Amino acid sequence: MNIRRLLVTGGAGFIGSNFIRYELEQYPDLHIVNFDKLTYAGNLDNLLGIDEHRYTFIRGDIADADALANAMEGCDAAVNFAADTHVDRSILGATEFISTNVTGVYNLLEQTRTKGLARLLLVSTDEVYGSIEKGSFRETDPVSPGNPYSASKASGELIALAHHRTYGTPVIITRGSNTYGPYQYPEKVLPLFVTNAIDNQPLPLYKGGEHNVRDWLFVRDHCSGIDCALRRGTPGEIYNIAGGNERENIVLTRKILALLGKSEDLIRLVPDRPGHDRRYSIDASKLKKLGWAPQMDWDEGMALTVKWYQENEWWWRKVKSGEFLEYYKRQYGKRFADETS
Ligand code: NAD
Ligand code: TYD
Repeated sequence: MNIRRLLVTGGAGFIGSNFIRYELEQYPDLHIVNFDKLTYAGNLDNLLGIDEHRYTFIRGDIADADALANAMEGCDAAVNFAADTHVDRSILGATEFISTNVTGVYNLLEQTRTKGLARLLLVSTDEVYGSIEKGSFRETDPVSPGNPYSASKASGELIALAHHRTYGTPVIITRGSNTYGPYQYPEKVLPLFVTNAIDNQPLPLYKGGEHNVRDWLFVRDHCSGIDCALRRGTPGEIYNIAGGNERENIVLTRKILALLGKSEDLIRLVPDRPGHDRRYSIDASKLKKLGWAPQMDWDEGMALTVKWYQENEWWWRKVKSGEFLEYYKRQYGKRFADETS
């Protein structure tokens, strides 16, 4: 499908900014409109060096229907990354999660319908399925989210599928696994542990969850998967995007420390996340049938990612200040005090 002007919502975050770079590189005639609220996780540093002739930034909230409608003017398609994304923050309070991940998604659907966009792709997560002990989830399996974040994402998805069925809105959903790479906000486990370890600070590994499993997907592979679903997918359909790299949290932690040449004495087993999903696993055969395949090997992707944080302290030191430090104290202060090892 030919897209000339693409609206990207939430493009100043981790995956959204990588996706904007990816699209501008792949499609020389494409213009991108990035509509982002710039919450604590939005960062225009993620987009430094972008070709300004092919890129427009608008600050706004997807929960604000009028602002969104203005940004959508003249666009052929939209891809939504805008979300509140951190499980641990959603456990502290989920009001923003409902506003962005549910109301915001509803506005995107309504505006897509009334403006007659050819496609709306909603970037969602493997977490909507919940935990699975053996095997992998397919797109036909039911959703069973286990925390406020994943429940808000699943809610947005259900409204989208009903919108498609009721009005024929051309919406496509992707469900990606845990993503890693440059420009990830350091509240998520990988950049948090890498940057803490660089500073010889303790790594708060959730005890009881140290053998929990996540499937790791390199960010560029996630972007190419979204691009494939957007251009070759069928409206009303869901596509899993898997990394094919399932690792226990303790294995990931040791890998980070080994790459940095740091001691495992930095690991602290702290009280677990309530309702911690044990294992995520998805099957991406449906997207692979459209021609997508992940390119990055885990060892190479981890080495490249850790090196990026080592070489880009200017980026994360700015982020790990102010709001982040307050959050860190709220999330980990008591955990470190209650440390169990
Ligand atoms: P992020 O937290 O790094 O960035 C989110 C971006 O959305 C920020 O730029 C923020 O300013 C913006 N935003 C938040 N609320 C907004 C609103 N109301 N209006 C406009 N902009 C708003 O997130 P990420 O990790 O890049 O995730 C992007 C998407 O991918 C999310 O929808 C998430 O659910 C999904 N996803 C993430 C992962 C992962 O491992 N990070 C895995 C699968 C799916
Ligand atoms: P996270 O990066 O928050 O992603 P998600 O919860 O969306 O999978 O967490 C990944 C895994 O790491 C998860 O099993 C929880 C664990 N974890 C810790 O052990 N310590 C931490 O400080 C964080 C943030 C996560």
